[in-house]
Amino acid sequence: MRALVYHGPGDIGVEDRPDPQPGPGEVLLKITATGICGSDLHGYTGENKRRHPGQIMGHETVGRIAAAGPGGPADLRPGQVATVNPVIGCGECAQCAAGTEQLCARRRVIGVNQEIDSAFAELMIAPARNVVVLPDSVPEEYGALVEPLSVGYHAAVTGGVGPDDVVLVIGGGPIGQAAALAARRLGARQLVVSEPSAARRALVRRLGLAAIDPGDGDLPGQVRASVGGPATVVLDAVGLSRTLSDGLAASALGARIVLVGMGAREITLPAFEISTFERAVLGSFTYRSAEFRETAQWVASRPGGLEHLIDDRVGLDAAPDAFARLASGAAQASKILVFPHGRRTPEAGE
Ligand SMILES: NC(=O)c1ccc[n+]([C@@H]2O[C@H](COP(=O)([O-])OP(=O)(O)OC[C@H]3O[C@@H](n4cnc5c(N)ncnc54)[C@H](O)[C@@H]3O)[C@@H](O)[C@H]2O)c1
Ligand SMILES: [Zn+2]
Ligand SMILES: [Zn+2]
Repeated sequence: MRALVYHGPGDIGVEDRPDPQPGPGEVLLKITATGICGSDLHGYTGENKRRHPGQIMGHETVGRIAAAGPGGPADLRPGQVATVNPVIGCGECAQCAAGTEQLCARRRVIGVNQEIDSAFAELMIAPARNVVVLPDSVPEEYGALVEPLSVGYHAAVTGGVGPDDVVLVIGGGPIGQAAALAARRLGARQLVVSEPSAARRALVRRLGLAAIDPGDGDLPGQVRASVGGPATVVLDAVGLSRTLSDGLAASALGARIVLVGMGAREITLPAFEISTFERAVLGSFTYRSAEFRETAQWVASRPGGLEHLIDDRVGLDAAPDAFARLASGAAQASKILVFPHGRRTPEAGE
């Protein structure tokens, strides 16, 4: 098979690798499309030390089941369109039993752990229990959006977003977009996204959501003007000292602030804004397996707007250039998808 292999900072290229074979409880997928995630990009630039030379990255993926090893569930059949939950729990601990694999101390993540060959390749192996089948009626490439959309959904669920809430999403990148779409889906009464990039604010508005520019200053005032009051839930999809303090300043007493953005390893905590006003700061990482499946079902229902979340589609040979373009800061409003078997139009399938 052909695969995109990470060689080192700024260096990624297409190589031939042996075709993988599914073992017991595993499924072989022929990859249709895989999204380039911010974390792949930070791995590529060397900013994030969690990617290693020789590694095949890629965790936002959709493909067709090509074969299933022995011992897997009987309902997985060759030809089915499927996405993959990349969070692999140990399958033995209490967290895995509860479906909270993201809290499994021995969790591994497809596309992150270097020993797992992942989805920027023509073929990939996944544990059968992580494979989620999608109906043929859904444009196949939407399956690659399930993973980032699940990250946003888990953040909104962690914040307890419901019909009484006024939600501020900080950051309008793919994760902020996903968090905002999830907050709307959970019935948020009011919703606004803060994002400095004009292209991304325009995308947020195309999704039917309100957007403000933090560069205009007085974020609390802008939030009040947009949604009629301070936020009861803040979904911080950036994760910097600046965005946490913005979120605290623009939120109500007793608000929940969800830290899903991972912009900096350490940030400053305005302690009295938390203690005195009984705000809660909550961490959010990936998703529960049920949330991934619920998001896949939502995507399968073809909600309007998903077509705006894909900016560009490239084949494997053009993928190194796409990484270089993204790393150079070339503005992209949302996702670039890599099609290892060549570019496909949404309905083409195989
Ligand atoms: N917790 C998780 O499970 C998880 C999963 C995936 C990604 N992430 C993290 O989420 C974050 C966002 O991911 P992404 O793919 O959307 O990244 P991204 O870089 O594409 O988007 C971040 C956006 O934040 C905007 N921004 C910068 N400063 C801002 C400010 N002061 N106020 C408002 N917006 C501001 C940027 O213009 C950009 O559009 C990253 O830190 C990523 O590592 C977390
Ligand atoms: Zn990702
Ligand atoms: Zn476990």
